[in-house]
Amino acid sequence: MIPSYYEFINSVKILSGKNALENIPAELRGFEARKPILLTDKMLVKIGLAQQVADACGGSEIVIGAMYDDIPPDSSVEVVNDIVRVYRETGCDSVIAVGGGSVIDTAKGVCICLTEGTDDLLDHMGVDILKRRKTPFVVVPTTAGTGSEVTGVAVIANPAKNVKMEFVSANILPDVAVLDVRMTKSLPPRLTASTGMDALVHAIEAYTCLQRNPLSDAHAHAAINLIRKYLPRAVRDGKDEEARLAMANASLLAGVAFSNSMVGIVHAVGHACGGVLRAPHGDCMAILLPYGMEYNLSAVSERYAELLLPLAGPEVYARTSASQRAEKSIETVREMSAEYSRICGLPTKLREVGVKKEDFSAIARAAVNDGAMIVNPVEADEDDVLGILEKAY
Ligand SMILES: [Fe+2]
Repeated sequence: MIPSYYEFINSVKILSGKNALENIPAELRGFEARKPILLTDKMLVKIGLAQQVADACGGSEIVIGAMYDDIPPDSSVEVVNDIVRVYRETGCDSVIAVGGGSVIDTAKGVCICLTEGTDDLLDHMGVDILKRRKTPFVVVPTTAGTGSEVTGVAVIANPAKNVKMEFVSANILPDVAVLDVRMTKSLPPRLTASTGMDALVHAIEAYTCLQRNPLSDAHAHAAINLIRKYLPRAVRDGKDEEARLAMANASLLAGVAFSNSMVGIVHAVGHACGGVLRAPHGDCMAILLPYGMEYNLSAVSERYAELLLPLAGPEVYARTSASQRAEKSIETVREMSAEYSRICGLPTKLREVGVKKEDFSAIARAAVNDGAMIVNPVEADEDDVLGILEKAY
């Protein structure tokens, strides 16, 4: 059913494939930018990925004005404000973010401050209150999962208040996303599986949540198809360039899907597990997905039945009777998690990521208050979440 009204945006230019990195200077020139700040983390400097991006800009008139690598896995307002200071002191004129979700979200925070002309990100918290970004902004993802290179969302911690702040606006979408297999080739199997499953959850939840629309559906469907075909290959052989590029595209497609639809209960409970215990996001997603799908089955069984095609492929879809397809989809994602558990130790139960039974009530309380819960196709109260946690424990 077509929604009576919806909006859809993806204004990000995508450079995907061979030598994509080497095209960054041309993009910057298009914005009349000459002196980008390069934002990354210490690990990516250590393994040479940050330098590879800097080198790709070499030989052009682009000069890396500053390289800031002190971005932690859970970035904070202080880090954003510190980068803004460095950017101004070094006279930079654009931003290149090289990293995973935390680096990219930090860069979005930096762009907010630069556009709003402030030195404190805390002045600009909220939804749809941001001005159109002025700073040229290029993103080079080094994982294939968050889709953050194409989402208008940034999550940044405020340690003083012990909360994660959300900034939501189409005005923080980057100008350019660069998908180059040199950036994801060295990702170990365990992280490849975990981030890939995060992308899968983005796509499945985008396809079934209350804000879905025909365009987000199309992106989600395409993402799942690629994940079925290529995630097993990328996990088994990280050097498989075709699989790596396909997964980078899948993650991006899923990002466009959920950025224009939303997610749901798997993310609500997963965010809560991450907030209460710092359990890794992708791991929580892989663990919770089948239980979240079971919980939603009664409301979206037709949608799950449709997803059997991209999830399991045409042969399985054709030989499964129409009435069994929805449950078969759930069985398929459960088998996927079990397979990655065998191959690389991806956890399948919450107890494996440090969740304890005594944390359940705090997690349930946080989950029902998570923004993703509002658009879940079935309402859930704390008892419902406790039921999911018990099963996933
Ligand atoms: Fe996610």
